[in-house]
Amino acid sequence: MNDTLLYLRPNIQVEPLFDYWYAWSHLIPPATAARNLTERHFKIMDSYINAPQVHANAVKNPKLLGGPFMDYGGKRVDEIRNLRDQTKRIRPHLIELSNAIASLDEILRTQAKGFSLQPLYQAVPDVLKGYVELVYDLNHNPSFRIIEPLLYRSRYYDRSAQSLMLSVLTGDDRPFVLSTPRLESELLFHLRAPFDDDVVDELFRLKSTPRTWGEIKEMLKAPEESEKLARSFFTPDPPPPYSSYLGHGVRWRYFGHACILLETKDMTMLFDPVLSYTYESEVSRYTYQDLPDSIDYVVITHNHQDHVLFETLLQLRHKVKNIIVPMSSGGSLQDPSLKLILKNIGCKNVIELDQMETVEFEKGSITALPFLGEHSDLNVHCKAAHLVRIGNRALLFAADSCNLEPRLYEHLYCEVGDVDATFLGMECDGAPLSWLYGPLLTKKIERAMDESRRLAGSNFDQAVDIVRRFNSKEVYVYAMGQEPWLGHIMSLKYTEQSRPIIESNRLIKEWSEHGACAERLFGEKEILIENID
Ligand SMILES: [Fe+2]
Ligand SMILES: [Fe+2]
Repeated sequence: MNDTLLYLRPNIQVEPLFDYWYAWSHLIPPATAARNLTERHFKIMDSYINAPQVHANAVKNPKLLGGPFMDYGGKRVDEIRNLRDQTKRIRPHLIELSNAIASLDEILRTQAKGFSLQPLYQAVPDVLKGYVELVYDLNHNPSFRIIEPLLYRSRYYDRSAQSLMLSVLTGDDRPFVLSTPRLESELLFHLRAPFDDDVVDELFRLKSTPRTWGEIKEMLKAPEESEKLARSFFTPDPPPPYSSYLGHGVRWRYFGHACILLETKDMTMLFDPVLSYTYESEVSRYTYQDLPDSIDYVVITHNHQDHVLFETLLQLRHKVKNIIVPMSSGGSLQDPSLKLILKNIGCKNVIELDQMETVEFEKGSITALPFLGEHSDLNVHCKAAHLVRIGNRALLFAADSCNLEPRLYEHLYCEVGDVDATFLGMECDGAPLSWLYGPLLTKKIERAMDESRRLAGSNFDQAVDIVRRFNSKEVYVYAMGQEPWLGHIMSLKYTEQSRPIIESNRLIKEWSEHGACAERLFGEKEILIENID
């Protein structure tokens, strides 16, 4: 009996955590993480401790979905207080780093007036000395650039904050996780390992390669009291075998949101991996079990949590050969290097592509095209729309590109020519700047300014201009956050009256009237493209 071979069940949720908060990409780069710790996590915890019932009421209000409100029904206040106090006790250096960034901003605001910055190096807070370069832009606006690779090597990159929380998931109803830390409970198994640890790959290999309970127990270092729980996460039932695409064309499959698998008989490519676990549900979907054993390229369009999801990336890491990411400017709080983020969580072969750069593969290529907007007008370079050529076909994965300047697409058309299919997000309302980037600001932003600076994708006029420009034969609106398994990271619930739905309906109608194929993707979709030679 002890020799029974066991697989990790397909509905075991594995949440990556940073000091018990759901880990997303801004919680890895030390400076950006430090700001989120003090300006997001501590502020939400303080507020909950002071007024738990206000949070409990706010969480029930659909208008406040995704807001800074903790979802514990007003309970567990002592545990939250303990978490806050313990985090303060063990991470004083991160608090110091966050405060130093605020002080440096203040020094630059008040003392850098266009004259030489050399004397100001003395005034840089001690913890940042040697980790920043002070700079002006050409209009003498002062700023600083973080020497990111060095900061990762310092004590400010603290892998001991990272861990994984395992539990059984039985349905789509996952609460929003960016405002609520995950507290221990008897139904959760806490695997205290940093993300780059080999145990992470060993764990996820168990989805397809079984081992005995003895081996698994040793690997998980399960303490006696949680052994029974941990054992329940494993099953002798193997997953269904995967059937690869063996045709001579391309098969693409939509896995939800911006996650699309492209497959030829020679190559597999997965965009913006965000996967559902596998369980019974009314909404049919592809899940982890519908992925090949090996993925040649994971391709990431931009550094937002619905496009770079560690929870999925860590599951895939052992089967991914290359990860293509957009090049960041690096060194700023809002645009940390995605390459460094992924390398530091243990991803290998991360390839950074600058605008208009191309990676070639057999019978095709992938080119990073410029992606305007959708980042609250902040100077963020880490974003790309990807043009994939396979045989004689061209597919454009534009993600949340906002067509702020149609002339861009006029120029791009000269380079690219006609496109067969365009995939475009049309989340055209978008959250205000502070929703995502607020903790990075060291000076309060006026409400009206904040409201005007949004994370908005293309509306009808902007979208139709792109697809017209490229003579796109097919149009797929995607990345709308509407799949029911995305509730933990998305705070969008649209109705037929929501602007992104109205605008994307108009696009679909307009394009269908041209006799072309147009659709808003939801749940799952499979398309076979034959005759690509
Ligand atoms: Fe986005
Ligand atoms: Fe998005």
